[in-house]
Amino acid sequence: MALKMIVATTTDGIIGNRNSLPWYCPEDLKLFKEKTMGSTVIMGRKTYESLPPSKRPLPGRKNVVVSDTLHLGEVGPDVVLWDHYDLTSFLFGYESPHPEIDMTKDVWVIGGRMLYRSMLKHVSEIHHVEIISTVPYSKITGDVAFPELLDELRGYFKKGRSVLHSVNAKPVNLNQNDTKRVNLFRETVYHRDQFHVE
Ligand SMILES: NC(=O)c1ccc[n+]([C@@H]2O[C@H](COP(=O)([O-])OP(=O)(O)OC[C@H]3O[C@@H](n4cnc5c(N)ncnc54)[C@H](OP(=O)(O)O)[C@@H]3O)[C@@H](O)[C@H]2O)c1
Repeated sequence: MALKMIVATTTDGIIGNRNSLPWYCPEDLKLFKEKTMGSTVIMGRKTYESLPPSKRPLPGRKNVVVSDTLHLGEVGPDVVLWDHYDLTSFLFGYESPHPEIDMTKDVWVIGGRMLYRSMLKHVSEIHHVEIISTVPYSKITGDVAFPELLDELRGYFKKGRSVLHSVNAKPVNLNQNDTKRVNLFRETVYHRDQFHVE
């Protein structure tokens, strides 16, 4: 099993706005789906609540939600609810991992900020998507940032494969999402070089 993180940020490190993504980029969501399909995904309660009801839990993946306030009845039997914040003991256990987690497959930390921050020191790979605004004089803004990511990448990771994706976006029907539409993003994989010494 490899413990991996997948996160999309603007060039300025913004990851969210009003408990949602501050941009609209279906191509990035497709990439997210391809990478995580068949694996375990771990998310914070707010990220779980931000998913559209039709995508909750995320299909084809074992969903783990970290929350002290949600109850099993609110998430359904397909979700593993983890109410302790010590996630390393959840994953690695004192003797064995959680019985519902398939340790032969990858485990992905998928957000949001609170969960990212607590797992940052433990993941061995980070899949970072940089969302690039191409609208002149317009900046993507939001209320949740993840600045710690850059320090961790600089100090403890080696940069691997990097791909710039350019999508020819021609929205047919103008709707609320089109104003947030981005068509340029860079996907970079980082591999852990050094772990923190406690
Ligand atoms: N850009 C991206 O790639 C990306 C990905 C995912 C989410 N997001 C965005 O991130 C924002 C949400 O982030 P967030 O930080 O506000 O919420 P979050 O991490 O999704 O959820 C926070 C909640 O999860 C529980 N929790 C998770 N980890 C915990 C820990 N280590 N210690 C204590 N509690 C923990 C607590 O639930 P209880 O209060 O129930 O105990 C906490 O209130 C949204 O805007 C979302 O759209 C962005």
